[in-house]
Amino acid sequence: MDILISEELDAPSVRRLGDKYKVVSDALLWKDPARLKQAIAGARTVMVRNQTQLTADVLAAAPNLIGIGRVGVGLDNIDMSAANKQGIVVIVPLDANATSVAELAFGFILTLARKIPKADRSTKSGGWDRKNCTGMELNGKIVAICGFGRIGRKVATFARAFGMRAIAYDPFVKQDSPSLAETGATLATTLDEALAVADFISVHSPLTPETKHMFNRDLFARVKPGAFLINTSRGGVVDESALVEALRSGQLGGAALDVREKEPPVIADLERMDNVILAPHVAAFTLEAQTRTYEAVASDIDRLLSGDPAKNFVNRPRPETRG
Ligand code: 3PG
Repeated sequence: MDILISEELDAPSVRRLGDKYKVVSDALLWKDPARLKQAIAGARTVMVRNQTQLTADVLAAAPNLIGIGRVGVGLDNIDMSAANKQGIVVIVPLDANATSVAELAFGFILTLARKIPKADRSTKSGGWDRKNCTGMELNGKIVAICGFGRIGRKVATFARAFGMRAIAYDPFVKQDSPSLAETGATLATTLDEALAVADFISVHSPLTPETKHMFNRDLFARVKPGAFLINTSRGGVVDESALVEALRSGQLGGAALDVREKEPPVIADLERMDNVILAPHVAAFTLEAQTRTYEAVASDIDRLLSGDPAKNFVNRPRPETRG
């Protein structure tokens, strides 16, 4: 088998691969690790979104695997060190969805600031409640951008256009990084420094052991009271029970979440809060981003299977390490 597809992937660029290669596609395979291990054993490449867990155990069952095509940019479902050890190239379309994700994050900022869901609900139910729909201007406000990669930088650019001040926090970005001058953001040396003054906190950090529950009870206690939290990165970066407490106490003024600790989530407190906006992990779901993403990954899978190097990848595994 040339290509295993273990969750729902459907695009013309993926279907075209079927004209040239032997493709096995099973949209439910990700749910069953034992069946996944059996199927991946005979695969040269695998294409996934974020549901298939490519753990060290699963990858160990794939001796012929030369490439993983990740149709998206989050890598928390792939054991990168196992992929490196096995000489597996991980294809990731790094630039493909940054604009879409940043646009949704900024859309959330505007939506929270102007209470759009409340205005919509109230007006549709026959109300004309202008007083309770009074919002705040973005001009002059501060946004803390936690994670200053491709997406965070775009959010900073949008913020500048709205007259906001952007303060970036990212342990991998240095004071002399050109990204700061390009976006007009200033760099905080600690997360606390950014959160103490931010009216909006937009999270763009990958989920790693270091960032898991980075936004927890202690941290929420140190934000500027009434700040808004926007998360379009990974749900696990935020401790949801601590978030509920911070929203209930008024320490946070509201939140907008595209991602959750468990997806789909268990319907509970956040779903019942008026100052919370929720979406089903759709930040990258625009026609443009999806087309770019699928095309970048499909063309690299094609290159790899034809013996050529991939163009979009995040690791340089040494093939000689293959067992
Ligand atoms: C990403 O990691 O690029 C986005 O979260 C989208 O992920 P998805 O491929 O699971 O939709």
